[in-house]
Amino acid sequence: MKPQFCGTVTALPPDKSISHRAALIGAISTGETRIENFSAGEDNQSTLSALAQLGVQIQQEVSQTRSVVIRSNGLFDLKPSQTPIQCNNSGSTMRMLAGILAAQPFRSTLIGDDSLMKRPMKRIATPLAQMGAQLALSASDTAPIHIHGKKPLSPIAYQTPVASAQVKSCVIFAALHADGTSEISEAIQTRNHTETMLGLINPSSPEKPDKIKVRGLQPIDAKSFFVPSDPSASCFLIALALLSKSPELILKNVCLNPTRTGFLTILAQAGVAIQTDSVRTIGGETIGDLVCANASLQEPLRISDKALVANAIDELPMLAVLSSLATNKFELHRAEELRAKESDRISALVLNLQALGFICETFHDGFVVKGRKTVSNKKIHIQTFNDHRIAMSFGIASYFCDAELALDNPDCAAVSFPNFFSLIEGLKQL
Ligand code: S3P
Repeated sequence: MKPQFCGTVTALPPDKSISHRAALIGAISTGETRIENFSAGEDNQSTLSALAQLGVQIQQEVSQTRSVVIRSNGLFDLKPSQTPIQCNNSGSTMRMLAGILAAQPFRSTLIGDDSLMKRPMKRIATPLAQMGAQLALSASDTAPIHIHGKKPLSPIAYQTPVASAQVKSCVIFAALHADGTSEISEAIQTRNHTETMLGLINPSSPEKPDKIKVRGLQPIDAKSFFVPSDPSASCFLIALALLSKSPELILKNVCLNPTRTGFLTILAQAGVAIQTDSVRTIGGETIGDLVCANASLQEPLRISDKALVANAIDELPMLAVLSSLATNKFELHRAEELRAKESDRISALVLNLQALGFICETFHDGFVVKGRKTVSNKKIHIQTFNDHRIAMSFGIASYFCDAELALDNPDCAAVSFPNFFSLIEGLKQL
């Protein structure tokens, strides 16, 4: 008998993307920024510790409200760090902070863990250099990133060449420090939290601007932010509910920003209806409850639309594992960006799915699962590559496989979801 998982989850991790941005915006605002429900995930703690290295005043209350208070005197209040700034596993910290450091009149060096030191950084170095900062990368265009900032930067007209919210946000952060108006656009829409939180767009307006206009050198008044639950974290629990045909699993207060809900669209296209409830807007972000009741995935997921790939980029590992387990089939194209994440997620998924017996074919930008053969091993080793989303995707799979799945580093889930395994155990009905 496979277990069932039901209940109401009120304590999903606060959104990782919004937590990063709230802290970074606080560091360049004038006054006291109060952030309610800041994520305890390791990535977000890396943003706080990096800012602390740069002299930012941060107070964190580890209470029910998980609030963080940041005090700053505005755009140019950071102090040089005597040591390289440690971003650990967090690409968002490194790329977005680089946009701010590019405008500070001192030298900085950004470093990370083994995974982050392999990820592409030219994508941010190019626009920041065009704005007047001096940057040096390694010979393979990765970190360490050495930045010699220029105060003020020059404004830029820039279209991001890769669908990346981190690159877009990096340029927006830099543009806030430029002596003129910058115009930033993207061919494919990515998550829009930075522009929403800075009041640069109206996210609920049907007429989406095709360019984000940023007037530089304008003081930003400190304000309060509330961080809703992370839709990327919710995807793992939805997969759990679908695979166990849960009578009811309710996820409270999830960020339902349309630039983040592509995974729900992908599931709906395959006939899975997840209901939303109590939908409202707080601080420009749509928030609501997700209800998954008596639903299961019957049709394989086939994903090839570039816009949906960008929208659901962090959910693709879980969707791939879900579709494979539920239907023995899955198809993904135009997702080459997955190779530039915390691990090469195309290779990591295929390797581990093959270990579970799935028959896969790999392309440069995706892969297909064509069927499954029986594997007689009682124990299957899963290589996480220390990638939180690979660990959690196969952590979910472990409840639905006959063999025991032994993950080499389950603890890396804490990068975005510190209590992942204990929360799931709490939902298990025996
Ligand atoms: C993020 C953007 C995405 C995503 C990452 C968080 C963000 O990365 O994969 O987990 O907060 O802006 P890219 O911008 O590299 O696509």
